[in-house]
Amino acid sequence: MRPNLLVLGGTTEATALCRALAEAGIAGTISFAGRVERPVRQPLPQRVGGFGGIGGLVAYLREHAITHVVDGTHPFAAQMSANAVAACAEAGVPLVALTRPPWQEQAGDDWTRVPDIAGAVAALDGPRAHVMLAVGRMHLAEFAPNPQHAYLLRLVDPPKEALPFPDATVIVDRGPFTEDDDLALMREHGTQIVVSKNAGGTGAVAKILAARRLGLPVIMIDRPALPARTEVHSVEDALAWLDHAGTDLGV
Ligand SMILES: NC(=O)c1ccc[n+]([C@@H]2O[C@H](COP(=O)([O-])OP(=O)(O)OC[C@H]3O[C@@H](n4cnc5c(N)ncnc54)[C@H](OP(=O)(O)O)[C@@H]3O)[C@@H](O)[C@H]2O)c1
Repeated sequence: MRPNLLVLGGTTEATALCRALAEAGIAGTISFAGRVERPVRQPLPQRVGGFGGIGGLVAYLREHAITHVVDGTHPFAAQMSANAVAACAEAGVPLVALTRPPWQEQAGDDWTRVPDIAGAVAALDGPRAHVMLAVGRMHLAEFAPNPQHAYLLRLVDPPKEALPFPDATVIVDRGPFTEDDDLALMREHGTQIVVSKNAGGTGAVAKILAARRLGLPVIMIDRPALPARTEVHSVEDALAWLDHAGTDLGV
């Protein structure tokens, strides 16, 4: 069987996989939710927008004769990942998730681990501080209960709506970032607390390394729970999985 992949994207790793697929001449499409205004150019054909829940994804898989799905979404994209598990089971399409291990607290770190965004909001319920809030544009409104802080926000796109707190500096930039740059950024803004999702991987780790060097406390948001699925941690292992999943890669 010649493969025809659907790659659920939104991460550096998914883009790297698409590059490898394109180089190997393996057919596939990468899918984006459409949250980012200027998505990174992809080496495979792309589609943008939600599928319409589990049923919509099942219909898409059938209509486009998808043979395999690789979930390369961000570890916090829990809804999409759960939908992929359910839809692939229903459509009988093999699924693998291309994931990265979470960051681990090390000597020199000062982490407060919280289970979710609400936990981070609760952890910020204290006196005014300079806070680097690295949670993405979609979750800013949830921090409205803590308007006392001076927030430093780094976002891929400028915020579309008014920010829910009066004192905020917005930097529009996209990773990967370097430890030295983030160190300089935190010094410049007098950062006292860093709030981060435990994304794992290398693209967003610079702020965690910089916080360690500065001895800053980090409010680390743990990953959401996901249904059981096959996981691989590298592009090579994703290709090996594809090879073993009864496909003729023709390479
Ligand atoms: N959450 C983060 O912190 C984060 C960080 C960096 C990048 N991203 C990327 O941003 C995208 C959205 O993340 P999220 O946390 O908002 O997701 P989510 O909450 O898990 O997904 C919500 C809905 O968005 C649609 N969707 C999500 N990812 C999609 C994809 N790759 N292709 C097509 N539709 C998709 C699906 O709509 P339907 O139900 O209509 O199919 C899904 O049910 C993902 O691709 C993710 O990889 C997320």
